[in-house]
This record gives sequence, structure tokens and C-alpha cells, in this order.
Amino acid sequence: MKSAAHDTPMAQPKTAFVCQSCGASFPKWSGQCSDCNEWNTLVETIAHKVPRTNTATSAGPVRRLAEVQAEDTPRVPCGLPEMDRVLGGGLVPGAVILIGGDPGIGKSTLLMQVLGAVEPRLSVLYVTGEESLAQVGLRAQRLGLKTPDLPVLAETSIEQILSHLQQRRPGLAVLDSIQTLYTEALDSAPGSVSQLRECTAQLVRHAKSIGTTLVLVGHVTKEGAIAGPRVLEHMVDTVLYFEHDAGSRFRIVRAVKNRFGAVNELGVFAMTDGGLKEVSNPSALFLSRHAQPVPGSVITVTRQGNRPLLVEVQALVDRSQLSLPRRVTLGLEANRLSMLLAVLHRHGGVSLGDQDVFASVVGGMRIQETAADLPMVLAALSSFRSRPVAGDTVVFGEVGLAGEIRPVAGGEERLQEAAKQGFKRALVPEANKPRRTAKIEMEVTPVSRLHQALEAF
Ligand code: TYD
Ligand code: MG
Repeated sequence: MKSAAHDTPMAQPKTAFVCQSCGASFPKWSGQCSDCNEWNTLVETIAHKVPRTNTATSAGPVRRLAEVQAEDTPRVPCGLPEMDRVLGGGLVPGAVILIGGDPGIGKSTLLMQVLGAVEPRLSVLYVTGEESLAQVGLRAQRLGLKTPDLPVLAETSIEQILSHLQQRRPGLAVLDSIQTLYTEALDSAPGSVSQLRECTAQLVRHAKSIGTTLVLVGHVTKEGAIAGPRVLEHMVDTVLYFEHDAGSRFRIVRAVKNRFGAVNELGVFAMTDGGLKEVSNPSALFLSRHAQPVPGSVITVTRQGNRPLLVEVQALVDRSQLSLPRRVTLGLEANRLSMLLAVLHRHGGVSLGDQDVFASVVGGMRIQETAADLPMVLAALSSFRSRPVAGDTVVFGEVGLAGEIRPVAGGEERLQEAAKQGFKRALVPEANKPRRTAKIEMEVTPVSRLHQALEAF
């Protein structure tokens, strides 16, 4: 016997449960998203047939690689050299840039300044979904922008915005912020995952087809990631984060993804009464100048993107009151510190097993590269022995588990930057010894084993 259910086609589910963290969709509710393992993120949404979200540029004939490469991407400098550096040399037509940061850090201010600086050379459009036009006007006045004709629009409907973009075809458009936009095709609330995804997809498609550079402002969650699904970061060409140290007036713009430049590239700004000012010599910012050399402080040269930057690594070693001594890091990797202390014990004969070790980077900088290994070891030792490292010395190098000192990328640029800042001596890996032609006016001590470094220190 045949059941009636077999003959009728299955009806489409009317609602779906969409994870607000990763965007995965499920037919049934559950407490945990099985895709990204976040808890309590599934929200019931009306299931839509979402329009095509193909973000590639329009199809064309198959072409030879050599032909496509010949068209070099033109770049328009945006008028703020620090910003151009982060973007990899300027604005690329058709590129979509997502910029995230804490509320009040200065995203709108920065973008307003970029628009003001670029406006004479490029047609622009500023779309605000968060503030009234009067507020935008006040900010422009405060910034002293001399661009009375700068077009501004208060709008949150993506259809309206797209039609304005289509009409004006600006070279650069800023949408502040992506979380406030909505498309009429979906009836979920602005800021929900499906809205974010759909709006961004439409904008990306549009930007590529009319060659407009789009900047999307994104809110960040409490954990500091851009709110909404990670798919936003995949859809855009460039992701910038705007960071600052609590209480500091300095702001760092960092590229965490860039299809047109180096990642981790930094731009440094200071917030003033008249907006953001570029900091052209940021190395000075991350050094705390001590009148006398102090124990536990070592200056290193880190590379952020393509830029060498002098920073101070500090360590404090103190007798532990706990059975399991603490290893705490700020701006450095904690696992790396534990590993380095083990290397110091095995290959340097110094045991810190009964000591608490704290290590940090001055000025709220984060170092993720291995060049900070040797400075961390020396800072810990310097604190342990209460013997300062000479104030005119820089140190960098990776420390291997076998006690060897391994080279790091960009050795000569690092030394050049240190020399420029007035440092006289350097302790570097053997393989980073500068070539004779490099003309670096420093006394460079190359080392290949940990014990050599300890002797030199
Ligand atoms: P804003 O750009 O509105 O931040 P976001 O868009 O990231 O939320 O910046 C707001 C903060 O910046 C606010 O606290 C005031 C401060 N600010 C200045 O200190 N100087 C200025 O010239 C401007 C325009 C803002
Ligand atoms: Mg804002």
C-alpha cells in the first residue's frame, strides 16, 4: 500500500534557526550551534530564498594569465600617509574595506578625515545610518574640513543606497555602519546575520561592478571581533582593526587581512581636539625612556607588516609563593614564555622553576613573531639577576628548542631602524649579521647559541 505522503512533495520549512555567530542555518533549535560550537546563538528567522550571493566580478571569456597580470591595479593615495601604508599603498577601485573597532574609538572621525583629504581628487559619498546629518556636520566642523561640498546621506535602506551609488558612481563611499543597514528583501532586523550577509554581498557585488572603493564600518563584539558572522571578513578584500590602549590617546589601525597589501601593517594616530593626527615616528611611542638602565627591560625591533618598530619588552621575575609558579604575559605569547624558560634552564643552566615570571610589551603593543624570543629570555634573566641591559642595545632573534639562535626576517631593516633611533649596539642571530655593504653604524654582536647570548649579556 502506498502512503499519500509519498506522492506530495515535502513542503519547504517556513522558519529556520540561524546562528548569530557563524551564520549557519538549522531546521531545528538547539542550545549549541553544531558548526561553531557557540552556545545560545540560534535565533528563529523566517527562511528566505536568499538571492544569489555570488561576489565575483561579472563573468567574461577565459583569458590568458599574462593578459590579466598586465593590468596593474591602480591606486589612489587617500591623503593620509599612515592610512595609505595600512591599505598597502592607497585605495584600489572596486575594493571593499571593512573597518572594526570599539565604540567611540574614532572610526567615523578617521573616515571623515579620509573623505576630506581625498575629496579634491576623487568623488566621494558618506552614508550614515547611526547619526543625524547635523551630528555629521558638527564633527566635520570640529575637524576643520574645508570641503563644504562633501556629499552626505542619512539612509539605512540598502536599495536606496545602491541607487544613490549607481547614480553618483563615487570613487570612494563610506557606509557607517554595516550593522544599521537592511535590505527590504529580508524581514529580519538590521544587524542580524542574514541582513549583514545579504547587505554586504549586495554592496560587494555593486562595488566591483561600478569600480567604487567601499569602506564599511563594523561594530565589534565584547570579545573584540567584528560583530556578525565571520563570513563578512571572507567577503571583503581588506579587514582593518582600530585598536587602542585603555586611557591612551594613541590609536593603531592594523590590517588583519588585505588582498592588496601586507597583513599586520600598522598605521599610528593620536586623537586630538582637532581629530586624528598621524604619528610619523611611532618607535618613540613604544619605548619608555629610562633615565638609568633598569633590570628586566630589553629593547627589541619587531616588524609589523613591513615596518620595523622599536618596542620595549619587560619582565619581572619574583620568588613565587605558589606551588605552581605563575607565567603571565601581556602582548606576548604565554606558551612561548614557558617554552623559553625551559630552554633557558636546559641550555643556559638558569632555573626559574620556583619563580613567578611576568612579561609584557610597553605601550599596549602586541608581538606575535618569534623575534621577541631572545629579548624575552634576556629580560627575564636581567630581572632575575637584577642586572640591567645597557640602554643603547637592541636585541632580536628566535630561540630554538635545541638552544640555537635562529634568524628572523628583515634583519637589516631592523638594524637600520635601531640605528636611526640612536641605538649603538645590537645582539642578533649569526645569520642576521649585516652584509659589509649594508653600512650600519652599530656595534653588532652575532650569536648562534643561547649560551653565547648569555655570555654577551
Ligand atoms: P567617533 O569617530 O565618533 O567614534 P566611532 O565612530 O568609532 O564610534 O569618535 C568619537 C570620540 O572621539 C569621541 O569620544 C570624541 C573624540 N573626538 C576627539 O577627541 N576629537 C575630535 O576632533 C573628534 C571629532 C572626536
Ligand atoms: Mg561612529
